[in-house]
Amino acid sequence: MNRISRRHLLMVGSAAAVTMLPNHSAAHPATGDTSHKPRLAVCYYPEQWPESWWSLDARDMVQRGISRVRIGEFAWTLMEPEPNTFNWGWLDRAIDTLAKAGLEVILGTPTATPPKWLVDAYPEILPVGADGRTRGFGSRRYYTFSSLRYRAECVRIATALAERYGNHPGVAGWQIDNEFGCHDTTLSYGPVDLAAFRKWLAARYQTVDQLNAAWGTIAWSQQVSAFDDVELPISTPYDVSPSILLDYRRFATDQIRDFQRAQLEVIRPRSPGRFITTNFMGNFVDFDHYAIGDDLDFASWDAYPLGFAARSPDTRWDRTGNPDFTGWNHDMMRAINPAPFWVMEQQAGPVNWSKSNPIPDMGMVRLWTWEAFAYGASTVSYFRWRQTRIGAEQMHSGLNAPDRSITPGGKEAEQVGREIQRVGPLPRSERGDVALVFDYESAWMNAIQPGGTGTYQTHLTHVQSWYAALRRMGLDVDIVRPGTSLAGYKLVVLPSVWNATDALCGELKRTSGLVVFGPRSGSKTSNFAIPDTLPPGPLQGFVEVKVEEVEMLREGTGPSISGSAIAGTVVDWREELLTELPVLATYSDGHPAVVGSRKYWYVGCRGDTAFTRSMLQAAARTAELPVTELPDGIRLKRRGGLHFAFNYTDEPWEIPAKPKTFILGQAEIGPHDLAIWREG
Ligand code: GAL
Repeated sequence: MNRISRRHLLMVGSAAAVTMLPNHSAAHPATGDTSHKPRLAVCYYPEQWPESWWSLDARDMVQRGISRVRIGEFAWTLMEPEPNTFNWGWLDRAIDTLAKAGLEVILGTPTATPPKWLVDAYPEILPVGADGRTRGFGSRRYYTFSSLRYRAECVRIATALAERYGNHPGVAGWQIDNEFGCHDTTLSYGPVDLAAFRKWLAARYQTVDQLNAAWGTIAWSQQVSAFDDVELPISTPYDVSPSILLDYRRFATDQIRDFQRAQLEVIRPRSPGRFITTNFMGNFVDFDHYAIGDDLDFASWDAYPLGFAARSPDTRWDRTGNPDFTGWNHDMMRAINPAPFWVMEQQAGPVNWSKSNPIPDMGMVRLWTWEAFAYGASTVSYFRWRQTRIGAEQMHSGLNAPDRSITPGGKEAEQVGREIQRVGPLPRSERGDVALVFDYESAWMNAIQPGGTGTYQTHLTHVQSWYAALRRMGLDVDIVRPGTSLAGYKLVVLPSVWNATDALCGELKRTSGLVVFGPRSGSKTSNFAIPDTLPPGPLQGFVEVKVEEVEMLREGTGPSISGSAIAGTVVDWREELLTELPVLATYSDGHPAVVGSRKYWYVGCRGDTAFTRSMLQAAARTAELPVTELPDGIRLKRRGGLHFAFNYTDEPWEIPAKPKTFILGQAEIGPHDLAIWREG
């Protein structure tokens, strides 16, 4: 059967067994939800459609089980066509129409697309790339976070919006800006940025002597005698000190935090009882999301599983997405903010922006939606209500085609709409079996100092390979930030935390679980220097190891690794370990690869999938965790007393545990289908 017509078939099989769950009445003050009933939402651009369609659209949304709608995030010019002349009529009518249909509105502040008149009046707000060239008006995200002038303009529009709609009964919450850092805009290198950086450095270091000491400027005569001597770390003939590059990224995070805060501060008092969030991106580490998420009521992210799958050399997931891509990013949201998160934009058909843009396999839009709920999402919002006929994104699908007809993804969303009515509230998410410590600075450090100029694994590919190995064992993973309590976890893994802070070490001392340190852990100080005692620096308090030498190998040339339960091959990074600790696995030349005592292990390489899986299986067994070997493409997740199974493969899969009480689906899970069952 041709695959498009297959997708048009109504999916009826898996909805067969549905039972109601007990009502969980505890409220989520942050999300405004009074129950844990999963909610569907959609991203909508009323300004792109005839006004006569709005009420029909609102009616259709409600009929399809959608109860929330995000609007407004790119519409500044329509809101304020001329400086201080506001045009609210269209937005009043749009919000009223949606609210009248029973929809809750999430209003986006339109600060990712300043109007032309604003850019003309203040060209200094434009960002400058690392090539020194200014990015001009056009497309979106053409501003630098450092511009105080731009922040003032954003405060002005956010204040005007909040004053007009902050107490509107139909407005449930706010989204600040849109996808901070998208299109490579986290770092900007213009005069405004330089001035802000110098100010930031003066506050951080107090004296230039301290700055010189922290940056090690004695190397290559880089000493400065005033903060105003500091230059931007671009356009140099050769490598800039990594300490400077690290500080530039820290500075950039603080700029985004302050940019967001300026808007939060004016919206909160004018819109009491409403939540505020922003939409993060998947697999994005250019700024420290923890610092931004702390100021929000909950975190949300934009899930485009196929857009990301197309970037991977592994073609198996082209039409389904990689299950650990969605899993990782959902779990990341819980680390960024503990309140139930949202998927603010959920792919509902092909996207337009990746290397290839396939149609999802039938069932995947529904599967992704339930998967998000399994990981603890409270709302999944599809991108977008209707494919647009105009503009840059006309080749991006939605729940509806431009002629108003429903798309295959729209039908699957509609099916979820019916299912969540029947399923009712879900229990609260509980903690996982394993803690995985992740910090953003290590990702930056790895990008700054990858160890060679070849194309190597990124920090994220390494960390996610550990995550995937744990998930493949059926273990639920909590991603946690360094300094978070690790009490109660039987297994704690740090795939690569470069700067082992006192706060992290304190928690590592207190945990009773088995701790596994990955390569490059503790390898740098907070100023990006090599620790006095050599890596792993402060972690030597836990593992008596000294990393004597390191090497970055050409892909395909790494030695094999073997131990009684561990086997695999080095991918690229390898360390020579000086240690008296028991050796759990060695390289083919006999040098130790994995060493450890009863409580702390150290792993000295980035290994292939076989190595990572066998090493973490050995760790899980040592930690007395149950180890299930799931087929690739099958993932399990618990949410309170509920179990979820997701089948990303083309073959049916039978749940081995033979559960009795299914909430959704049955013991045999068809391709691209799922099941939910109750414990016991
Ligand atoms: C997101 C963005 C949306 C839309 C979407 C397309 O990055 O927030 O506005 O462009 O991607 O996939």
